[in-house]
Amino acid sequence: MTQTLPSAAVLGARAFAALDGLNRFTDEPGKLTRLYLSPAHRHAAEWTRGAMEVAGLAAHIDAAGSVQGRREGPVPGGPCVMIGSHIDTVKDGGRFDGNLGVVAGILVAQALRDAGVVLPFSLEVIAFGDEETVRFPTSFSTSAALVGRYDAGWFSARDADGVVLRDALVGFGGDPDGIPALARKPGSIKAYLEIHIEQGPVLEAQNEPVGIVTAINAQKRARVRITGEAGHAGTVPMALRKDALAAGAEMALALEAIAAAHENAVGTVGVFRPDPGATNVVPGALDFTIDFRAPRNDTLASMDTAIGERFAAIAARRGVGLTMTPYSHDQATPMAGALQDALAAGIARTGSNLSARRLPSGAGHDAMVMARLCPAAMLFVRNEKGISHSPLENMTEADAGIAIRVLLETVLELARQEG
Ligand code: GLV
Ligand code: MN
Ligand code: MN
Repeated sequence: MTQTLPSAAVLGARAFAALDGLNRFTDEPGKLTRLYLSPAHRHAAEWTRGAMEVAGLAAHIDAAGSVQGRREGPVPGGPCVMIGSHIDTVKDGGRFDGNLGVVAGILVAQALRDAGVVLPFSLEVIAFGDEETVRFPTSFSTSAALVGRYDAGWFSARDADGVVLRDALVGFGGDPDGIPALARKPGSIKAYLEIHIEQGPVLEAQNEPVGIVTAINAQKRARVRITGEAGHAGTVPMALRKDALAAGAEMALALEAIAAAHENAVGTVGVFRPDPGATNVVPGALDFTIDFRAPRNDTLASMDTAIGERFAAIAARRGVGLTMTPYSHDQATPMAGALQDALAAGIARTGSNLSARRLPSGAGHDAMVMARLCPAAMLFVRNEKGISHSPLENMTEADAGIAIRVLLETVLELARQEG
């Protein structure tokens, strides 16, 4: 016995209820902090597996810690449409970043099952676990595993407490040796679709609940270490100091100026740790991170050169040592044109008078990794005040419901195209 598909309002209510369930799992009570391979990540992964099973998917937690759910189509083992996002968060993050996209996939699978819809392809939902790259210096490692681009060097990456990723993965219940087998074959994923909160203010300014992503910006990250000379804060004259923190501060300002001088570029120092970090000690060493992004690969390359030159000049003038260790570099990634059009058709199929507004993404997403293997596209959802990576991140239940209904219609559109 079939039912009709749920309305946007029902999907929005289901999504918010599911987010309440998923977001109970945090590493820091009172905040939403769920770092890759942490206890909260494990609990959230188990919750997600259960929710997938309730939605009629065969589900498991894979060797890298992602949760994979699948409903076979007419050809068992045949190509799938995959819906996904991530369930790791930044420290004290927002409740929608990543989580909404996973919940959306599960609700779409559930709605199609409940309505008795038979798709001409398999349907998969995936919850990646290492999108934010907050704990280890990796780069989208869980989606990289799926597309066969896992860097074995990541196994020896350490977190801020010195824990090695390989050990953390084993402790989580993952399997480092099983990662190569996660790689999907070209052609096995027909389409990867991801719903995500916008993380910026554009849709709100345009008064649009959803928008279709055209491309994801190029980005690069590096760890920087400055070695100066520790000394007594009261006795070492200014002219004789090799203050690692002051050198790093000048570099942070240089990064800011370089980003401002490049078109639509951004640059951020998000971690800044002086050593020893005492009030009355001239900092002898400093570790910090840089993250810079631009819509074009050539703009990013020009920033990279400028950062290298400016940092080297500052270090030389101040007589401090400088080591820069790049750990992630992602090319600007256009989203698949045909899938952008399918999302637009999905919007039209909802029968609403929404415009299919298109916009680029300044934030990084697993979709940019998936695009190395298969056609990938994203739908952004309006973000209240454009705030993200913050507990203030917000959206309305109504907008979440509209987005999930569009995703549902997009899957049906892909089924229609298949004939
Ligand atoms: C992920 O949210 C990123 O863009 O850093
Ligand atoms: Mn995200
Ligand atoms: Mn994020």
